[in-house]
Amino acid sequence: MANNNLSMKKFLLSSSSSLSLLSLLLLILITLSFKLSLIDCRNYEHSAAELSLTNQVVIQQRDCYPNETPIFVHTAASTSGKYFNRRQVIRRTWAREAYKYKMRILFVIGVPRDLSIERSLKAEADKNHDILQFNFIEDYYNLTLKAISLLKWSYRHCSNSPYMVKTDDDVVLNMPMLYQLVRQRKIPSGLTGLVMTTPANRENGHKWHMPEHLYPKDSYEFLAGFSYLLSMDKLKKFLKTIITYPGPILDIDDLFLTGIVADYGKIRRNNSFRFKFFCGTDVCTMETSLAMHACPSAKNSEYMYRFWKNADRLSCYRHFRLSRSYRRRRPRRSIDESSSSTSSITTISADQMIANYTDYLIDNHQLIGFKFRQP
Ligand SMILES: *[C@@H]1O[C@H](CO)[C@@H](O)[C@H](O)[C@H]1NC(C)=O
Ligand SMILES: *[C@@H]1O[C@H](CO)[C@@H](O)[C@H](O)[C@H]1NC(C)=O
Repeated sequence: MANNNLSMKKFLLSSSSSLSLLSLLLLILITLSFKLSLIDCRNYEHSAAELSLTNQVVIQQRDCYPNETPIFVHTAASTSGKYFNRRQVIRRTWAREAYKYKMRILFVIGVPRDLSIERSLKAEADKNHDILQFNFIEDYYNLTLKAISLLKWSYRHCSNSPYMVKTDDDVVLNMPMLYQLVRQRKIPSGLTGLVMTTPANRENGHKWHMPEHLYPKDSYEFLAGFSYLLSMDKLKKFLKTIITYPGPILDIDDLFLTGIVADYGKIRRNNSFRFKFFCGTDVCTMETSLAMHACPSAKNSEYMYRFWKNADRLSCYRHFRLSRSYRRRRPRRSIDESSSSTSSITTISADQMIANYTDYLIDNHQLIGFKFRQP
């Protein structure tokens, strides 16, 4: 009887495990075909009907104040998981400084496929006053619609701003530096960001695949989409170019808008080394960069918080001072063993420290057009 029971159990176990194996296989098959159908769904270009949705605002926000720089952050219409976490971290870090620098953060979303979360998106928007929603389905291949929407929105609601910024949600912006550059009008007219040149992607099924009949040239030049700036004096021209552009409205936003459209409308692209595609790990990264993408952090928003918190001006000065005094200390020690060298570290004045640090940055070609303030 006991034996029978055992074999029965074994049988049940093995059959259930083969069953679960079968369901696993089925699941994989379903996911695969779903993925394939998603790729099939991609149209590569937008219709006139889709384009008209870029005028339709679902969740609205106030106009910009005169001279306020809007910073548009592409994020997804979900109320949990990484997109929500990133919004929260941005609100706790660089967005928190925005107001005092006459900047304003607006998270830009589309309409979620799952309409049941629309209510919580609305609640999040009411609470933070920083969400703009447009009336097209949220999807990676609708990012061109998103970018066009925010250009149009800026034209209608931020006409007295000097610049606008487009950024992704895995980016850290150096707000004090942006403020200095904007205030001193140091940013050239047109588009500014990290200029990229890449061959046109002809690999079927690739995320960035581009069919030859839609884009016959062999390569693109454009600004990396993680972050770029547009001076408002070119906004009207930019929008006009989009409307009159005779070719297909392609679904890869950065290369279409900052590459193809900018070329067609003769809107200048300016390269800036302050836009970092991979943000560094040392505490001085923040001091020398304007936009830092994929910080060690990008996947985990808590790291992003720590990066921002640790990369403050003072840590950088301190880091710099220590490494300088360390280098200076060594030879001295061999000459005069008895003197206490630790006192020489602590007696450097703050002014001297800043002067040394500024020299260091100039030596490394990292300080052009930016004046440091006292910490
Ligand atoms: C983009 O948005 C349009 C309009 O809402 C929608 O019909 C389309 O399916 C979306 N595209 C993708 C790839 O999801
Ligand atoms: C911007 O780019 C243009 C041409 O690409 C160049 O002539 C100009 O000097 C640049 N301006 C600045 C301020 O870098």
